[in-house]
Parts: sequence; C-alpha cells; structure tokens
Amino acid sequence: MAKEIKVVGLGGSLAEQSSSLAALKIALEGAQEAGAQTAVLDIRELDLPMYAPDANEVPQSVRRLCDEVHSAQGLLWSSPLYHGTISGSFKNALDWLQLLSDREPAYLTDKVVGLISTAGGTQGLQAVNTMEFVVRALRGWAVPLVIPIPQAWRVFDSLGHTHDEKIAEQLHALGHEVTRAARQFASQVITTPDAQQAEAEVQPLSQEEAAATLKE
Ligand SMILES: Cc1cc2nc3c(=O)[nH]c(=O)nc-3n(C[C@H](O)[C@H](O)[C@H](O)COP(=O)(O)O)c2cc1C
Repeated sequence: MAKEIKVVGLGGSLAEQSSSLAALKIALEGAQEAGAQTAVLDIRELDLPMYAPDANEVPQSVRRLCDEVHSAQGLLWSSPLYHGTISGSFKNALDWLQLLSDREPAYLTDKVVGLISTAGGTQGLQAVNTMEFVVRALRGWAVPLVIPIPQAWRVFDSLGHTHDEKIAEQLHALGHEVTRAARQFASQVITTPDAQQAEAEVQPLSQEEAAATLKE
C-alpha cells in the first residue's frame, strides 16, 4: 500500500492579515487535492521565542514546530519579502530547525519543499531564492516550481481569499507538485548514513558484465 504523505505548511508573518499565510493555505489545498494529509504552522500563531543556541529548555511551540516538520514528507514555505529577503520571524523559525540536527534522518533529509513569497512591489523572487539556500543547507529538496507573488495587496482580500484565478491555480499546482515529489521520495529508500555507505561500496560493473547485461 502507498505510504500516506504528509505536507506541512510553514509561513505567514506577524501581521494580523497575512498575504503569505493566505497563499500558503491555498497551496495546502492543492496538496490535499493531491491526496496529502496537511497541517499549517502559522508563524504568528506559533509565537516562537528568538532562537538561542544555548537555550536550556525547548518551549512547547518549538517542539511542535520541530515535530511537525520532522513528521512531514513534504513542506510548503511561505515568507513575505522584507527588505529584499525573507522576514526575520520566518528566518527565526528556520533557525529553530537546528534542533533537527540529531533526528534520524537529520534536518530535512529526503523532504521536498515548495517555496512561496509575497511582496508589496513588483517581484518577490529574492525571498524564494533565500529560502532555497536554506533548503539546501538543511539537506532538503526544493521543487523547481516556485511562486513569488508580486503586489500581493492586489491579490488577497482581508479574509485571505483571492479572485486571481491564475495565482490560485499556480499555488494549487505547487501543492500538487510537492505531494507528487514527496510521494516519489517516500517510495524510495531513505538516505541514511548506512544507505550512503552502502551506495559508495557498490562496485561499478566490469566491461564484460556490462556487455553481458546488454545482450540479455
Ligand atoms: C519591514 C517590511 C519590509 C518590506 N520590504 C519589502 C521589499 O523589500 N520589497 C517588496 O516588494 N515589499 C516589501 N514589503 C512589503 C511586503 O512584502 C508585503 O506587504 C507582503 O505582502 C507582506 O506579507 P504579509 O501580508 O504576509 O505580512 C515589506 C514590508 C515590510 C513590513
């Protein structure tokens, strides 16, 4: 039986009406349509303390963040564009993912991530690019489709709904894509240190063996 796929959305801002949260929720609908179980981690609602490397106690909100992210095969990240990059509150949430360093597998190994940003100006790709750096640093896999939403104030109303069918369609497509790729990853062997070592030990075929394989 195919493994159930869980897609967790992380995003939004500290604003009461957040366009990046609205976009995230629409992308999660897409993941649901594609058959994923979904959960949303709203940055404002999480109310995380600032990451401190020497923190003695791990607050409940941080534990929730880390456990939800670790339990997911797919992730959707959505940050507003702040001064040409991601917001501080979103980066702070990502910094807390340092606590996934001793999980098995560590960080975002074999997790698939879809990236969204909302901007006030005419583009929002810098935030997406910054998030992609973080995905790679945490050993995750960003899907090629990304959704930077310029002039987000035109796109979402005060209830977080959009009348822009094209953007809604793109966000749904991203949710689908993350679910599809996460399903693909989940059907393979997880990349553990053991698996990596085993792969390194596989000897390439000799010329004779390769020729014999071709004849079969
Ligand atoms: C501190 C701050 C910095 C911002 N910097 C930029 C920026 O560099 N470029 C831009 O296009 N919009 C910028 N904006 C506008 C936001 O990206 C835009 O309003 C976005 O939709 C906010 O997302 P939110 O509704 O989820 O908070 C900035 C807004 C704030 C509050």
